[in-house]
Amino acid sequence: MDKPTILTGIRANNDLQLGNYFGAILPMIDMAKHHSDQYQINLFVPDLHSFTTPTDLSILQKAVTSNLRVYVAAGLTIDNANVHIYRQSYVPAHSELTWILSCFTGFGEMSRMTQFKDKSTKIKEDRISVGLFSYPILMAADILLYGASYVPVGDDQTQHLEFARDIATRFNTMATKYGYQEPFIIPEPVKKQHGFFGKDQGLRIMDLVDPTKKMSKSDELGKGVIFLSDAPEIAKKKVMSATTDDKATVAYNPAEQPGISNLLEILSLFRQQPILDVAAEFAGMTSYGEFKSIVADEVEKFLVELQANINKVDDDAIQKKLEYSEALVNEQANHTLHKIQRVVGLRPAGK
Ligand code: TRP
Repeated sequence: MDKPTILTGIRANNDLQLGNYFGAILPMIDMAKHHSDQYQINLFVPDLHSFTTPTDLSILQKAVTSNLRVYVAAGLTIDNANVHIYRQSYVPAHSELTWILSCFTGFGEMSRMTQFKDKSTKIKEDRISVGLFSYPILMAADILLYGASYVPVGDDQTQHLEFARDIATRFNTMATKYGYQEPFIIPEPVKKQHGFFGKDQGLRIMDLVDPTKKMSKSDELGKGVIFLSDAPEIAKKKVMSATTDDKATVAYNPAEQPGISNLLEILSLFRQQPILDVAAEFAGMTSYGEFKSIVADEVEKFLVELQANINKVDDDAIQKKLEYSEALVNEQANHTLHKIQRVVGLRPAGK
């Protein structure tokens, strides 16, 4: 750990969509490209997190591999020695540190987590798991084991990141009290983190059927969502039947023409042109059908290319990278874990 570390968890979902692509996958690949000379970059699959909410366990293995294939197809280079790609459950120190940290975390502290409150009210049939409740502690362990300074995450995770800073500070204070050096590197304050991922572009992509809500994998019917695995013709149809308005003129006006504005946003992301330039190019076009077919063609072209790249991905190379990274990060993680085991009295003092 000579270089500062940037770390992020990339959840294994079987159904990545356009919002994930622009909002999470591309920024992550960009970060790996641009910062790997000065930082160690840890990209990991938080697989222990997969079943905090009720889920189909039979798809989890496939989800991990298929997501990694998408990342590689989208440009993540696996031959970069400063980029570590690993699965959380292959590094047992995550679970062990989580238990220790959880014994020094207040019940009240966890109860205040807004993501838990949101998610737990949405679970209808099944039980609400203790894992969902205490998950931020696992996330803190994910971060602290590697002394990560930067943890680019979405807004929904900032409270968890604050918790990681709190628990790390608590342990450092405790360690000093017992005569040890401070074991944890404290992640940078959340405000300082924001420069890294830039503005979350994926947040701009809205559902095609209901353009007032974010495009999200949790849309049950999936008609308003372009999944990266959609057959290109199907995706095209989804664009053609996107909700618009009755103004009959293309304009960028998210408040009054959210559907058309969303399609302009999508074009702007594909073409990597500023939204205002794209809006100017199509301003005043009166046929929504014509406009939609331009967007639909772009979406089709994108999916055809991406899916061809996915088919070319070398699974063995990914597997090798995982195994190599996992051996390496296990050493780093165990080093941190041993320090903590000494502080809490599980191992003899010394060294
Ligand atoms: N909680 C994150 C999410 O839901 C994923 C995650 C797990 C993570 N552990 C992490 C992100 C550690 C950053 C650092 O998206």
